[in-house]
Amino acid sequence: MGLQDKKDIFSFIMINLLLTSIVSGSTDTITSSIPLKDGDTIISSRGLFELGFFSPGNSKNRYIGIWYKNIPAKTVVWVANRETPVIDNSGMLKITNPGVLTLTNDKNTIVWSSNVSKAAPNPIAQLLDSGNLVVRDKNDNINFVWQSFDYPGDTLLPGMKMGKDLVTGRESYITSWKNDDDPSTGEYTFGCDVTGYPHQVIKKGQVLQYRSEPWNGIDFGGISVLPQNAIYKFDMVFNEHEVLYTYKMFNSSMISRLTMNHSGVAQRWVWADQAKDWIVYFSIPAADGCDLVCGAYGTCAINSFPKCGCLDKFVPKYQNEWNGANWSKGCVRKRPLNCKTDGFVKHANIKLPDFQYSMFYKNVTLAQCEKLCLKNCSCVAYANILKTGGTGCMLWMGDLVDIQEGPSFSSVLYVRMASSDLEEQVGNETDQLYANESQKEDLELPLFSLSEVVKATHNFSLSDKIGEGGYGPVYKGVLQDGKEIAVKRLSKTSNQGLDEFKNEVICISKLQHRNLVRLLGCCIQGDEKMLIYEYMPNHSLDYFIFDESRRKSLDWPSRFNIINGIARGLQYLHEDSRLRIIHRDLKASNILLDFDMNPKISDFGMARSFIGNETQANTMKVVGTYGYMSPEYAVDGIFSVKSDVFSFGVLVLEIVSGKKNRGFFHHDHHHNLLGHTWLLYQEGRLMEIVDPNITDSCHLYEVLRSIELALLCVQRNPDDRPSMSTVVVTLSSEGELPEAKQPGFFYTEHIPRDDKSSSTHAPSSTSAMTITLVNGVVRYVFRKMFKNQMSFFLQVMYKFLYGMKLKRS
Ligand SMILES: *[C@@H]1O[C@H](CO)[C@@H](O)[C@H](O)[C@H]1NC(C)=O
Ligand SMILES: *[C@@H]1O[C@H](CO)[C@@H](O)[C@H](O)[C@H]1NC(C)=O
Ligand SMILES: *[C@@H]1O[C@H](CO)[C@@H](O)[C@H](O)[C@H]1NC(C)=O
Ligand SMILES: *[C@@H]1O[C@H](CO)[C@@H](O)[C@H](O)[C@H]1NC(C)=O
Ligand SMILES: *[C@@H]1O[C@H](CO)[C@@H](O)[C@H](O)[C@H]1NC(C)=O
Ligand SMILES: *[C@@H]1O[C@H](CO)[C@@H](O)[C@H](O)[C@H]1NC(C)=O
Ligand SMILES: *[C@@H]1O[C@H](CO)[C@@H](O)[C@H](O)[C@H]1NC(C)=O
Ligand SMILES: *[C@@H]1O[C@H](CO)[C@@H](O)[C@H](O)[C@H]1NC(C)=O
Ligand SMILES: *[C@@H]1O[C@H](CO)[C@@H](O)[C@H](O)[C@H]1NC(C)=O
Ligand SMILES: *[C@@H]1O[C@H](CO)[C@@H](O)[C@H](O)[C@H]1NC(C)=O
Ligand SMILES: *[C@@H]1O[C@H](CO)[C@@H](O)[C@H](O)[C@H]1NC(C)=O
Ligand SMILES: *[C@@H]1O[C@H](CO)[C@@H](O)[C@H](O)[C@H]1NC(C)=O
Repeated sequence: MGLQDKKDIFSFIMINLLLTSIVSGSTDTITSSIPLKDGDTIISSRGLFELGFFSPGNSKNRYIGIWYKNIPAKTVVWVANRETPVIDNSGMLKITNPGVLTLTNDKNTIVWSSNVSKAAPNPIAQLLDSGNLVVRDKNDNINFVWQSFDYPGDTLLPGMKMGKDLVTGRESYITSWKNDDDPSTGEYTFGCDVTGYPHQVIKKGQVLQYRSEPWNGIDFGGISVLPQNAIYKFDMVFNEHEVLYTYKMFNSSMISRLTMNHSGVAQRWVWADQAKDWIVYFSIPAADGCDLVCGAYGTCAINSFPKCGCLDKFVPKYQNEWNGANWSKGCVRKRPLNCKTDGFVKHANIKLPDFQYSMFYKNVTLAQCEKLCLKNCSCVAYANILKTGGTGCMLWMGDLVDIQEGPSFSSVLYVRMASSDLEEQVGNETDQLYANESQKEDLELPLFSLSEVVKATHNFSLSDKIGEGGYGPVYKGVLQDGKEIAVKRLSKTSNQGLDEFKNEVICISKLQHRNLVRLLGCCIQGDEKMLIYEYMPNHSLDYFIFDESRRKSLDWPSRFNIINGIARGLQYLHEDSRLRIIHRDLKASNILLDFDMNPKISDFGMARSFIGNETQANTMKVVGTYGYMSPEYAVDGIFSVKSDVFSFGVLVLEIVSGKKNRGFFHHDHHHNLLGHTWLLYQEGRLMEIVDPNITDSCHLYEVLRSIELALLCVQRNPDDRPSMSTVVVTLSSEGELPEAKQPGFFYTEHIPRDDKSSSTHAPSSTSAMTITLVNGVVRYVFRKMFKNQMSFFLQVMYKFLYGMKLKRS
């Protein structure tokens, strides 16, 4: 740029400055030599704002004010002496050393003055194009010793700030005029409240009239407050020093202001140049009258009639008042919280409740937020309030007040509820699990959310699958707090499974015993049904005893401990529990092992409760596992506690021998494990069935006694079998045991080894069948079968199960 250019620019500026002052014939400053008299004005340099004396409405009083220069209907945006008018035209505004603005009357009394924090040697007052009147040193146009923007009246102009200085505690807000004729401080204020989390409030004196949702990083939620738009852009300065709301225009040639009017409405105005009029862009509170009307736990919906309702599962505190549209007393819970087992109900499209008793945590996920809330019994709700990527956790510690609902609100609130209220919410299906209310009340089964379980099991990943239960897969999971769980999931396709699932819920939720697996809760959501158990790290009994190498790690003391544990668990089921339960599916794979190898009976899908002195029942549907089923149950469908005792006997023999009853093979005969043991028992060679890995353990007496006891348990006639309490006592005592009678079912379904070439090959030797047929139970069964003319189907099934070849007769 050449010298000539610089000169040109300089003269251009000079000419313009000259022209401006000639055209306007005025100045934008008040100096110490020239005070401002009533009748004079100063005008900001680009002619946007004007300052001078004025009288509002019908008043004759004189006030110093600032208004838009180019807007015909005088719109005053700031008043200096709002409380102290000059009553005639004698007022004079002066700037004095060290920089104090004073307004004096005819008696030269100061009726209003500005405050300064520091002195300015050559002070001037200047009206800026922002509408800000500033006091500064003539030679310093950066540092102001005072500015009108720090003392808002009823109007917030672009660049003004509203909020709180957290260091000094100083608050700035706008205040309504008393009325159109009197600019003195009125009743209504509009500002920022930093309780809980910054939000905007309108108050009448100290009484809250309206509050916005908290600042969520983008806006104040909902529609009702300060929407983003093409006209102005607002911002929250929010740090440890200050909380300030401010805004600026996108296009500086557009004009907008925010005011608090004296009937309690805050209004956003935009100047419409073409219409030459102000347009109300929005008002708050909205005219719908939904703010703060419905009381605690009430919720207001603009389009509903009546507009107030109670949150789901809450009822009006005073029904009559409520019916009379007096909603101020709000609603109360139907069921009280108990702190320990509570859960949360999600409410979407909500205006978040009042923050008076709230706490805010930064950088906390929604799940952590829920935990925080659960931990403190005073916490009644939580929400994530930030919408800008981050997470901000808000906890509510008092009654929930001023909730509104509707599509225009976007917040989600989680309200703490008693677990019994949650169960209802989960769906009607859960209700059907319980025959009646009173049954449900006793249940108190904690509910897990589907998302929690999905998270814990990596969305039921195959790698987390640990087995297949009676009615669906079982997964291992880890809850967020690190607790390990086993999740038993009902197959969606299985109709039959549903009954078993319900049965298991009802049975086991009421049972508690050291030797029963513990149910932690359930998850019923949509078509998902799951039971959540404590996780057993050492798998199930079959995992150990039927495995060549793992078996070695189970010495006799461990095995005896397992036998004793199962016996005590069963005794509890049969005799001590409130329900009196027959398990019906006791087997090695249903005995789970905890960290210390203690046994826990699991899988109550087939269990049946029996009442009073009833000791047996009959069923059309025989369920259970072959090899463990007693003959009277497998064949006649008669079950009793003694069917469980039979299964227990089989289990003991398996534990001692390390062999499966079903699938047992011996060179010399076709007996199963029971039959084989029975033969050895009769010949006094019981030691031969003992797992060689425990024969060294020097507990021979205990081992042999256990086998004898097992043989008593598997006797053919249920009446001959001992009860579980007898079993428990016998296990821990010494002394002679009665002689065992012949066991039920001891013919193996396995084919002789020399026939192993074909797996479909059925036993052909009639002698084998004869041997079996003469054995008591089977003969008895056959007699019964034919006598009752049971179906051919049953015969075929029998053949299939026990490897017998039958001829249709
Ligand atoms: C000026 O400061 C005094 C003392 O700090 C205070 O009482 C007064 O309200 C202030 N006046 C204005 C207009 O801020
Ligand atoms: C700003 O507004 C004025 C008047 O409405 C218009 O003429 C001008 O084009 C706008 N400027 C921009 C950058 O939008
Ligand atoms: C305040 O604003 C509301 C809503 O725009 C309006 O109805 C009311 O008349 C205004 N009050 C005054 C005194 O201007
Ligand atoms: C609502 O009821 C309370 C008493 O519970 C009463 O004080 C109040 O005036 C009533 N409000 C209305 C609007 O009737
Ligand atoms: C938020 O928390 C996560 C994990 O708790 C941490 O890694 C991250 O640095 C935190 N962010 C902030 C901004 O504090
Ligand atoms: C629960 O919250 C209340 C209210 O904030 C607080 O006073 C109390 O100490 C909290 N209790 C616990 C156990 O954190
Ligand atoms: C339960 O069923 C009833 C009647 O079938 C229905 O009115 C109610 O909305 C249902 N509740 C839920 C939570 O689905
Ligand atoms: C609910 O079940 C309990 C126990 O099963 C029973 O005592 C009670 O009478 C039943 N109540 C109703 C209303 O059926
Ligand atoms: C879990 O898996 C199912 C199907 O495999 C899928 O539809 C669903 O979106 C997954 N959920 C999550 C949270 O990953
Ligand atoms: C049982 O499980 C625990 C934990 O996984 C393990 O340390 C222990 O060795 C297991 N016991 C046996 C006998 O495998
Ligand atoms: C079992 O109950 C029935 C009917 O309640 C009664 O007649 C019978 O005497 C009871 N039997 C025993 C052994 O208590
Ligand atoms: C354990 O039993 C197996 C056969 O079941 C046998 O081969 C092995 O030698 C035994 N080990 C010990 C330590 O007794």
